[in-house]
Amino acid sequence: MSEEISAQALEWGNWLFAQECEFLRGAASLNDLPEFGQPEVSFAGRSNVGKSSLINALTGRNTLARTSNTPGRTQQLNFFSLGKRLVLVDMPGYGYAKASKSAIEQWNALLQLYLKGRPTLSRVYVLIDARHGLKENDLEMMRMLDVAAVSYRLVLTKVDKVSPTPLRALQKEIEEKIKTHPAAFPEISLTSTVSKSGVAELRAEIAQFAIGGS
Ligand code: GTP
Ligand code: MG
Repeated sequence: MSEEISAQALEWGNWLFAQECEFLRGAASLNDLPEFGQPEVSFAGRSNVGKSSLINALTGRNTLARTSNTPGRTQQLNFFSLGKRLVLVDMPGYGYAKASKSAIEQWNALLQLYLKGRPTLSRVYVLIDARHGLKENDLEMMRMLDVAAVSYRLVLTKVDKVSPTPLRALQKEIEEKIKTHPAAFPEISLTSTVSKSGVAELRAEIAQFAIGGS
């Protein structure tokens, strides 16, 4: 990342993510979306991209969000509260090949309702597998966020699996592409839950939205 992150922001991020993180609830249907009165950030992305793993790495807990080799593990919106200052939302993955048509329709309806009617939603992190880059359903997700005017930031995951030169090329290509997406933050984040690269920086980025943040 080219942006400068201050030592103070890193410290606040590390402090916040060391606070207690409690599971609030899961929501699987339209009339089941609770409001918690805290600012909120959500993690979206294709199935198996590493959403649950990233939440675990950010919070330093291995088992908070359930991870799996089986795509489609997370099947509802799971809400966690971090130190009662910020809500983190683990979302079900999209693009899961084995999902039924009705399950996809139900998920899209829930997602649209969530995105449009969530005043506390500060930012959505859209995770992209660094080995695969942007896929059509990522672009669909981005368009949906543009239309709903929800601020989002792209986060490359699994950067430990890609060597530096192609990784830089992918970053440049994506940062060029998102210029035409009005709700996208212009810089992307690069992360690995294996090497922990980019994790502290992402904590600092997310922590700005918490109660007591900048
Ligand atoms: P769904 O809930 O099914 O949508 O998946 P998810 O996006 O929550 O993915 P999850 O965190 O369950 O991770 C999927 C797989 O990717 C697991 O086998 C993880 O161990 C692996 N994985 C996640 N992050 C990384 C990473 O940074 N590097 C590598 N090498 N593997 C990772
Ligand atoms: Mg998951």
